[in-house]
Amino acid sequence: MAAIVAQDVWKTYRGGTQALRGVSLAVEPGQIFGLLGQNGAGKTTLIKILLDIVRPTRGTTALLGVSSRRTASRQPVGYLPEDHRLPEYHTAESALQFYAGLSGVLRSTARTRARRLLGEVGLTDVAKKKVRSFSKGMKQRLGLAQALIGEPQLLFLDEPTDGVDPVGRASIRALLDAQRRAGKTIFLNSHLLSEVEQLCDRVGILHQGELVREGTVAALTQDERGLTVTLAAPPGEALLGELEKAFGSARAGAGAAVELSLQRDEQIDAVVDFLRARGLGIRGLATRRQSLEAVFLESLQDAPNTQSAPGTPNAEQGK
Ligand SMILES: Nc1ncnc2c1ncn2[C@@H]1O[C@H](COP(=O)(O)OP(=O)(O)O)[C@@H](O)[C@H]1O
Ligand SMILES: [Mg+2]
Repeated sequence: MAAIVAQDVWKTYRGGTQALRGVSLAVEPGQIFGLLGQNGAGKTTLIKILLDIVRPTRGTTALLGVSSRRTASRQPVGYLPEDHRLPEYHTAESALQFYAGLSGVLRSTARTRARRLLGEVGLTDVAKKKVRSFSKGMKQRLGLAQALIGEPQLLFLDEPTDGVDPVGRASIRALLDAQRRAGKTIFLNSHLLSEVEQLCDRVGILHQGELVREGTVAALTQDERGLTVTLAAPPGEALLGELEKAFGSARAGAGAAVELSLQRDEQIDAVVDFLRARGLGIRGLATRRQSLEAVFLESLQDAPNTQSAPGTPNAEQGK
C-alpha cells in the first residue's frame, strides 16, 4: 500500500485561482518524494490538501490507506509548514517539550528526545536561548525538530531548507537521510533543484497546477546525456554546423571542446567516427547525465498553457 496517495486532485480557490489541475501521485513507504516547482505552482496547496487543511474542489487523498478527511489519517504525521512561526517566548528546548506534549509524548521521554533532536539539528549550543533571538535558518532547523518530536511515520516538509545556510542544509540532508533509513516516508516541497536532486528518490515537477513530470531522479535525468569532445584544435563554425546536422546539436565548449547532446550511448561511436573521418585529433571524451535543472527547464517549455516565460528555477538559493 502506498504511504501517500493523491487521485485526480483539483483545487480552485475562491476568487478563481486554479491552484491544482488533476494531480495524481503515489509515494511508497520509505521513500523521499520531492515536489519541485516555481513559486505559485501549487506545492503548498497539495500538502495542505493531503493534511485536510484545505479541501480539494475535486479528487481524493489518503495517508497510509486512511482518507485525509479522517482525523486519524494525521496521527502518524509530522509537519513543517511553510513560513511557520514558533512561539518567540520559548527557548529551543522548552518549545520542543511543549510540542512533544501536544503530540502526547510523556514528559520524561520528551526531555531526552528534545535534547537528542536539538543535537541532530545542530542547536545544542542554543538550547536555552529564546526563539526570539534565532536567525531564519535556526528557526527552520528548530521547526524540523518540532516536526520530528512525535517520531512520525510520515513527514511533510514545506520548503524545509528555506533560509538555511549551506552547512545547515547539509545537516538537514543528513537528518532526512537517517529518517529514510529508519523507514520513514518523507514528502518534501522545494523550489531548490540541487536540494531535491541530492535527497529525493522520486521527483514530481509541478507547473501551474499540473504534474508535468514524475519519476526517479535517475530516470528523469538519463533521457539525454551530454558528450564533451575535446579536439586537438578549436572547432570551426563549419564543423559545428556539420555536427549539428548529423547529431541534432553541437556547440563550442571551453578551449577546443565541442558539446553535444545525445539520445543513445551508441552515438558516441558515430561522433568519434565522424571526427576521425575528417582527420581531426581527439584529445578527450567525457559524458555526463543531464542535470535535473535541465529537465526542469525543459518540462516547463514542453508544458501546455505556459503563460510566463520559463525560467527562474533556482539551482542554489533564494526565491
Ligand atoms: N488561500 C488562498 N486563496 C486564494 N489563492 C491562493 C490561496 N493559497 C494559494 N493561492 C494561490 O494558488 C496558487 C498556488 O499557490 P501555492 O500552493 O502556495 O504554490 P507554491 O507552494 O508552489 O508556491 C498561487 O497562485 C497562489 O496565489
Ligand atoms: Mg509554497
